[in-house]
Amino acid sequence: MKKPFFITTPIYYVNDKPHIGHAYTTILADVFARYYRKKGAPTLFLTGLDEHGQKVQEAAKEKGLSPMEHCNKMVPQFTNLWDKLHISNDDFIRTTEPRHKKVVQMILNKVFESGDIYEAEYEGLYSVSEERFITEKEFETGQFRDIKKLKEKNYFFKMSKYQERLIQHIKENPKFIQPNHRKNEILGFLRKPLNDLCISRPKSRLNWGVELPFNSEYVTYVWFDALINYISAPGYDEDHGVSKDWWPASHHLIGKDILTTHAVYWPTMLMSAGIDLPESIFAHGWWLMGDSKMSKSIGNVVDPINLIDDYGVDPVRYYLMREMVLGQDANFTIELFKSRYNSDLANDFGNLLSRVTTLINKNFSGKIPNPGDLDTSEINIKNDSISLCLSFDELMKNMRLNEAIELVIRFISGVNKYMEQNAPWKLVKEDKRAAGKVLYTAGEALRISALLLSPVMPNRTKTLLDILDAFDSNQKWGGLKPGTQLNDHAPLFPRIK
Ligand code: ME8
Ligand code: MG
Repeated sequence: MKKPFFITTPIYYVNDKPHIGHAYTTILADVFARYYRKKGAPTLFLTGLDEHGQKVQEAAKEKGLSPMEHCNKMVPQFTNLWDKLHISNDDFIRTTEPRHKKVVQMILNKVFESGDIYEAEYEGLYSVSEERFITEKEFETGQFRDIKKLKEKNYFFKMSKYQERLIQHIKENPKFIQPNHRKNEILGFLRKPLNDLCISRPKSRLNWGVELPFNSEYVTYVWFDALINYISAPGYDEDHGVSKDWWPASHHLIGKDILTTHAVYWPTMLMSAGIDLPESIFAHGWWLMGDSKMSKSIGNVVDPINLIDDYGVDPVRYYLMREMVLGQDANFTIELFKSRYNSDLANDFGNLLSRVTTLINKNFSGKIPNPGDLDTSEINIKNDSISLCLSFDELMKNMRLNEAIELVIRFISGVNKYMEQNAPWKLVKEDKRAAGKVLYTAGEALRISALLLSPVMPNRTKTLLDILDAFDSNQKWGGLKPGTQLNDHAPLFPRIK
């Protein structure tokens, strides 16, 4: 049996509705989940919502709702978008669910019993927007808002105890934090002594959270609660630990904004609870608008729903996956979206399909012609397709999705050149069999490209395969059946003006 594949997205705050940034991480996870499912690996794709904490409590208060009413109202904002984006998640977790809260309390007890939680009076600067105490140094950067001086008794997690073990783990497992520059960032951060983590909030200040099992006057810090979703969803119990079917997770996909919580808090929590660490944490970059991050608090967001309504779901998925170099920031503009669509999808992919089907319809009564014996140029394309499939897998294994997509488009554009060189529209008048061979070759190249791109564009690639009546999901050359009647179709990727 294939190794199971368990991929997660962050669980998003329900303080506001999702934008392109949230859509990006979720589509990315969806593409990998679809890819591994297609390979036959048992796959668990988890996403969900982070419903506790101050941000959510405040958002509810502003609307005059109870936090629970607010959360219930917000859920469809996410689930409807995921439906519209054809997200194939296997589970959807909400941190207000009993199955989750139960596990948070089990872990808190476990960490408490292992002696890693202590009580202390703490006086310091508290950032309301960040929901945590900040250091003098952080205060001096001026990057924090809503700061007040607080003196409180709280519970602390002995994160510092695990600093050396964490450093060692990161060094011994080069894929634990990806990409490499993020790993170095965390190792740099870990050069300074690690502080312990305040994991409680007195109910007098915040009561929207999971109650501490050892002191009912406190709730758990939202991050200590939220991170545990990655094990509460696959299933955790005290006797057996996390479900062996899925744990350790293959990838936690996140944005770089939440790298520290995932690469420092989470692994040390797991170490204390005696649970294996996930295989990898992958932090991607930010979608920017001009120079700044697209964000709810700045308000410079693009609503994915409008984009899908205007251009269709697959082009949106394609653009987001193709345009961002996985791991780096990218700029979002509608002009870039349109030009990428027109050059890759309309002019290359869509155009090749319509050339092939038009010529087959006109000259071969709509039946896929026989390839006959392959000549050098056909053998070249066949060989290109074989190496394309190998490189595609290799890139996917190394989380280089945008490059994998680029290779397919380059292959398609090579096939377009082959069409130009052989001009089957002329050839058909002199040598019909030779023209048939060219059309078969181009059609087969389209079939293989559609199979490769199907995790990115599940709908349009399915349409393409339906047009070619190609039900064989084998990527080996020769899957198109000569004599098969083509099905009618509208242009797959009409040009955007
Ligand atoms: O941080 N570009 O939730 P959140 C790319 N609840 N990705 C972006 C983005 C942008 N401009 N803006 C948001 C939280 N994202 C916590 C997570 S996990 C245990 C708890 C994406 O609603 C990206 O994945 O603020 C980022 O990490 C996430 O949304 C933050 O979502
Ligand atoms: Mg955020």
